[in-house]
Amino acid sequence: MKTKILDILYENKNSPVSGQSFAEILGVSRTAVWKHIKSLISDGYSIKSYSGKGYCLEEKDIINEYELKKCNLNIPIFYEKIIDSTNNLAKKSNVESDFAVFIAEIQKNGRGRLGRNFESENNKGVWISFLMKPDMPPEDALIITIASATAVCKTFEEIYGIKAGIKWPNDIILSEKKVCGILSEMSCETNAIDYIVVGIGINVSQKQSDFSKEVSKIATSLLIETQKNVRRTKIISSLCYNMQEIYSLLKKGDNDEIIRRWKVFNITDNKKIKIIKNGDVITVTSIGIDKKGRLIVEDAKGEKLVYSSGEISVRGVMDYI
Ligand code: BTN
Repeated sequence: MKTKILDILYENKNSPVSGQSFAEILGVSRTAVWKHIKSLISDGYSIKSYSGKGYCLEEKDIINEYELKKCNLNIPIFYEKIIDSTNNLAKKSNVESDFAVFIAEIQKNGRGRLGRNFESENNKGVWISFLMKPDMPPEDALIITIASATAVCKTFEEIYGIKAGIKWPNDIILSEKKVCGILSEMSCETNAIDYIVVGIGINVSQKQSDFSKEVSKIATSLLIETQKNVRRTKIISSLCYNMQEIYSLLKKGDNDEIIRRWKVFNITDNKKIKIIKNGDVITVTSIGIDKKGRLIVEDAKGEKLVYSSGEISVRGVMDYI
């Protein structure tokens, strides 16, 4: 019933629909209509009641099963209002499909790289995980994170018209602050990836004061950077489309195209950066990435070194991240 009421409200977005009309269309009493409207309001919808005219839906940024269905994405999508982590949800899912999406409004225990916490206990971001089953050896998996970062940047370009930067391997940067982080986790057999979960956390509508004191120093949101209010389902639609495109490049093994896209957004090339490895800090010049997505740098002696993401942390692109 609530779905039908929403359908009618969306069809008549700028003209109020009377309780009587709802009752006639749906074959229920006006009291029943009112009860469902109240329930929709408690679900988070903003429904204005105009006396003598009826009910009208106001634009609101909501993610739920109904709103996700309206995106017509044609891929398996799993939604939970509150979850510990969408990466955990994806890992536990046992889905048959080789591409599936997991979304939550709120994460109670959002996880970041290197065992860090990722602030996402609010409904102001896109907390999403993509489960994929590419046919490739585990040691090549880094390119999946690199490719996913380009999909995020493409989405920001399409929706906000802004160019974000990728700080290798998994940070998306705007105005020298982090707007999005990516955490890839995989399960593998000896020679092949069983599945990989790419978890993407995008700060969408936080104000600077919404972040904790600690995170506020290094994080920003799309709202802060652009002053634009965008529905998260719009970002999700574009990202799902761009991630599907990335997945088909990965399946084709078209790493050259992935690297070409990465170069457009990369902000570390030809810069002096600090690399932290086992607690030691060395200053090197970043040169690029290889076909597996590994970072190529040159040390002070001019010697080339290649790093994969698990072993090092990159600093000094900005001072604080
Ligand atoms: C990082 O910046 O270190 C990576 C952050 C990744 C956060 C996303 S939000 C969706 C998915 N679920 C998680 O618990 N983490 C990722």
